[in-house]
Amino acid sequence: MELEDYKKASDYIKNKIGSLSPKIAIVLGSGLGVLREDFEDLITINYKDIPGFPVSTVSGHAGELLVGKISGVSIIAMNGRFHYYEGYNLDEVTFPIRVFKLLGINDILLTNAAGGINLDFKCGDLMVINDQLSFFALSPLRGKNLDEFGTRFPSMSQLYDVDLSKKLFDIINTHTNRAKSGIYAYMKGPSYETPAEIRALRVLGADAVGMSTVPEAIVAKHCGMRIVGVSCITNMAAGITTEDCKAKDLSHSEVSDTADKVKFIFKDVVKEYIQLFNGY
Ligand code: HPA
Repeated sequence: MELEDYKKASDYIKNKIGSLSPKIAIVLGSGLGVLREDFEDLITINYKDIPGFPVSTVSGHAGELLVGKISGVSIIAMNGRFHYYEGYNLDEVTFPIRVFKLLGINDILLTNAAGGINLDFKCGDLMVINDQLSFFALSPLRGKNLDEFGTRFPSMSQLYDVDLSKKLFDIINTHTNRAKSGIYAYMKGPSYETPAEIRALRVLGADAVGMSTVPEAIVAKHCGMRIVGVSCITNMAAGITTEDCKAKDLSHSEVSDTADKVKFIFKDVVKEYIQLFNGY
């Protein structure tokens, strides 16, 4: 991808949204598509109409940008994201992030569904991501560096914004007693992990595991965005059985059932988080 490719997509979006200038971008993970109902003056843009945008293929994942206001704040949200396991290259997976940057957006909220590795976690917990592991994956920044976005060797020392993450944690706490924070480990999927992999990830320091978010966060950091991430713990990871998560064999339906149960709380949390950007 070249700068021009990202520019074409951002010009197309600018043209569609007119004078709206979104302050924050949100990537909506499983279940969070319900946020759509809460937009004022909603403009939807299908991914397939945006030059250069990949198109989402997983069932249950929509493929549209939502632009409008929530609680008076202009936002842009991805209803459906791109995953490496779908067959996209990492520059396709992260394409929208750089497009958001060209739209003038500096704040991004990444949300996802994840498996719990930390034994103190329960299904339905909301974990603010305070760091990430991606030992086993290629970097989305591999290849020619686009200097217009950022430096060749970007620091990942403070990937997730500490102050905003703390605020998000407090917001979760006011809605539910299920606030957690921890480290998100990225696995490429699409198969779930083996119990041995989960034990190994726990030793490495992971609290949760999932198949998204990490490439997006790296690209967002590269171009200087402020990042906050939150995982809905939809299941306990492979090999872990607890009172409330008895599934012996992981399935997508367990993940989507929990995401469905938590989605309204998750949505309220996200809406309150958005309010932090009011007048900002
Ligand atoms: N593993 C990987 N990705 C996931 C999981 C999991 O257990 N749950 C939701 N997304």
